[in-house]
Amino acid sequence: MQLMNAMKAFTLLFISMLTLVAGTPLSLDTRDVFVPPVLYPHTGTVWKILARHNVTWDVSNPPAQITNRFGAIYLRKDGLIDLDHPLAEGFDILLGRIEVEVPKVKPRNDYQIVLFGDSGNWSGTFTIKK
Ligand SMILES: *[C@@H]1O[C@H](CO)[C@@H](O)[C@H](O)[C@H]1NC(C)=O
Ligand SMILES: *[C@@H]1O[C@H](CO)[C@@H](O)[C@H](O)[C@H]1NC(C)=O
Repeated sequence: MQLMNAMKAFTLLFISMLTLVAGTPLSLDTRDVFVPPVLYPHTGTVWKILARHNVTWDVSNPPAQITNRFGAIYLRKDGLIDLDHPLAEGFDILLGRIEVEVPKVKPRNDYQIVLFGDSGNWSGTFTIKK
């Protein structure tokens, strides 16, 4: 009798584990990766060091479920993202804009802004000058 109960419990556990595994792809399907395009700055934008600007991005097409709602903004140059110095982080990706201060970086004309939420999208290249 005790053995029967143990087997029953084991079978139930096994079935619920199967259900869990089978349910995983379904819940992944309903989640879309949100890659909002950066609108500003764009190609041709000129920023001065220590000035304040609103980085803006398009939030007109958010998926029903967003895996990571918190956004972060970084500078990118030479194909490298400066992850050590975020311009902004921890904001709601659905805001569509966030004010940042232009960091004291080397003046160059090939900076890009990278916006991370679920995934990253970057702006056109723009200039930061003194
Ligand atoms: C950024 O967004 C634009 C517009 O949706 C898209 O065309 C481009 O491929 C995206 N870039 C990256 C790196 O995801
Ligand atoms: C950024 O946008 C907000 C809201 O529109 C505005 O109040 C603020 O002055 C803007 N900041 C800059 C630096 O333009």
